[in-house]
Formats: sequence, structure tokens, C-alpha cells
Amino acid sequence: MNQVNIGLLGAGTVGGGVAKILSTNAEIIKKRLGFDLKLKKVYSRSISEEAGEFVKGLETESYSELFDDDIDIVVELVGGYDFAKDFIIEAIEHGKSVVTANKALLARYGFEIFSKAFEKKVDVGYEAAVAGGIPIIKSIKESLSANNIKSIKAIVNGTCNYILTEMLKKEVSFEDALKDAQQKGFAEADPTFDIDGIDSAHKMAILSSISFGDNIKDKDVFTEGIRDISLIDIKFASEFGYTIKLLGITRLIDDKIDVRVHPAMVRKNDILAKTDGEYNAIKVQCDMADDTVYVGKGAGSLPTASSVVADIMDIARNIKLNSHLRIPLMSFPFNYVRNRGVLDINDLDADYYLRFSVEDSAGVLSKISGILGDNGISIKNVVQLHKGEDWVPLIIVTHKALERNIQRALGDIHKLDVVKNKTLLIRIDDE
Ligand code: HSE
Repeated sequence: MNQVNIGLLGAGTVGGGVAKILSTNAEIIKKRLGFDLKLKKVYSRSISEEAGEFVKGLETESYSELFDDDIDIVVELVGGYDFAKDFIIEAIEHGKSVVTANKALLARYGFEIFSKAFEKKVDVGYEAAVAGGIPIIKSIKESLSANNIKSIKAIVNGTCNYILTEMLKKEVSFEDALKDAQQKGFAEADPTFDIDGIDSAHKMAILSSISFGDNIKDKDVFTEGIRDISLIDIKFASEFGYTIKLLGITRLIDDKIDVRVHPAMVRKNDILAKTDGEYNAIKVQCDMADDTVYVGKGAGSLPTASSVVADIMDIARNIKLNSHLRIPLMSFPFNYVRNRGVLDINDLDADYYLRFSVEDSAGVLSKISGILGDNGISIKNVVQLHKGEDWVPLIIVTHKALERNIQRALGDIHKLDVVKNKTLLIRIDDE
């Protein structure tokens, strides 16, 4: 067998990139592997511009032709849950190893899919599911495997990072920055998944699972997006020495997994704060290797397809050597993977930035600070912006406090008739 054959489901943006790389870089791929990788069959409801010339003549009538004997590795790039899940399970049942970029599917059904692959002795590659072109899955599963991972802090959504960067650099509102991101093709027409943090939560569930050997799912990740961040918060953060980022965090605390996605204030000199525009950055803190940081493009046809093809190459090597499951699918053997449970957000101990909207009158500050004091919350900074209006922003930065105390205090503060609207809370990442 001088070649390994690929069946591709989905010739969209990423599928097109895969077809292009397999053709354009066929020579270097062959040099590295010592044999050819051939795109043999493609099933897709529509063919993207990227895919066009590279998939001509390879299209099949039915997706089940991708399970034929002449296909060695199946690639799923349609996304979504139902069809993608059934397709992958069916492929595995046919004894095919699978490569996918489907973060939503793995964050919900990863354990089920990996268990099936383990039973059928096939591999599942998913490097492209987290942070597109950045080789973070392999780094955690293989390159850092001699370490205890202490924490991961990450920017894993390019759309949000682009929006927050534009707000900071161009001093524009969230709405204008979002419109600009949509015009430039970074944000989808319906940007919900990105700006509400859901896409980041999928990626953090996967990173968390393979870092700690736990079965973390999408629903386990505490998730807040960036919709409520205003230019005023970005400016104040900067004055206090921070940049606001949509941060994914995961750590092991008291045998619980602390995994969350929310806007966070990051010190300006942190490499995460300096990662701008559509770029992603992932900082992995380990006990032996110390900090390692991975920066690059987390989306886009070719960066994402580059990771897909690397997975295909890995699996093709295994096939050539009659080997499989050499690296545990979830980074730890199945008999180790556990369900320790996640840390309740109320047990989080952090500094907080609170932006109140208050009436500009005597005694307001003392009422609010009194309630904070009654709840054991110590104030670090106070700033009031005088806008010459009836309602003005009042910003309070706290010292370390338990989130349950902050939430209890906010509940009482909102009962004051000198306080309008919901208070904006941003957690400060100061460790
Ligand atoms: N929409 C994502 C982003 C990429 O903006 O980073 C795919 O997960």
C-alpha cells in the first residue's frame, strides 16, 4: 500500500482547505510520510469556492460511500450535532479512524464517541477542534505529558478578541466593533455562539478534559459573553493597568475542576493581554515546564485545515504500522478518566470590577460601600465618572472576595432606589 485514502464529509470552508492542502502540499506531505495521502471521495451538500477545483470528480452520491473498503480515514467537517454524530459513530463502526474539527459535538458527546472508538480500536483526531491552526491538543496530550498541568488561561475565540481589540484601539462601541467584524468576515451573521462565549466554552470543555483526565462537558463550563462590555469599561480597565479579554480558564482546585469562560481583566504586560485582533493565545502553566504559550490563528480555512491534515498524517502513520490508540484519546486511559465535578462559581475567590449606574447625590457612595462592607468586601479603588447627567457610572474595584458575597451584596445594592440597571461585574485575573 503506497498510499492512504481519505474520505471527506463536508467541502465547505475547512473541507475546502483540507482538499487544497492535500493537493498543494502533496509533495512535502509525501516526503514527511514516505507515502502518498490521497483524497479519494467527497460527500458534501454544497461545494465551497475553496474546495472547487480540488474535489472535482471525487463527489459521491451518498455519504455511506465514505465507509467503503477503499477509504482508510474519514474526515467529518460538517459541524453540528445530529448528523455529524451519527456519521462519526457509523464510520467508527465500519472500523474507520476519524478526524473532526467539531468542538460542539466533542464537548457534548466526546466521551461517547471516544468510548466507541476505543471499543473498535480506531483513532479520533481533533486537533482542529480547539484554536484552529494552533497545535494545542498535541502539546497537552504529548509534548507536556510529563507535567501536572496547573492551569490553562486562554483566548480561544477570534471574533471576541477582534471586537475587544477594536473597541480598545479605535474607541468604538461594542455594536460598531461587531458590525466591523461581520463586514470583515470574522463574525458570523448570527454571532451568538461567539459573543455569548458558547464557542469558547466548547473549547475549554475539551482542554479541561484532556488536561486533568476528567469528563468535562459543555454544560459544566460557567459561561458569560462580552455583550455587556462598554467602551467605558475598556477605558477604565486600561487606567487600572488591565486589558479586558474573553478568557477561558481551567484549573484543578481542591479536587474540583474550576472551568469557566467570561470577560476578565488581564494585566497589560501579560502575553494574553497583548494578543490582539483575531488571534488566539493559550497559556499552559505546568509544574515542570513552567509556562508555555501558544499563539496563532484560531479560525480560517487553511489554519484549521492544517491541523486536520496533521491529524490525518498521524493516523496514516499508525495505519502503516498496524498501530492504533497509541496516545489515549482523552489523553489519559479510559480507566483513569473521572468525574470530579466542577467548582461552583460562588466559591470563586477573586478581585472584582463593579460598574454601577447611580444617582449623583449625597450619600449614595456610603450606602453602596456600607453594603459591600457588611458582606465582608474590602474596596481597593473607587472612581465616579461625572457625565453631567442624572445617572452616572460609579466604578468600584474590590480586594479578593468570594463571589457568593459579591452576589449577595449586589442583590442588596439593587434594592436601593439610587441604583439603576444591572451592575456590570468583571472578574480580575491577577494571579
Ligand atoms: N468562530 C470561532 C472564532 C472559530 O471566532 O474564533 C471557530 O470556533
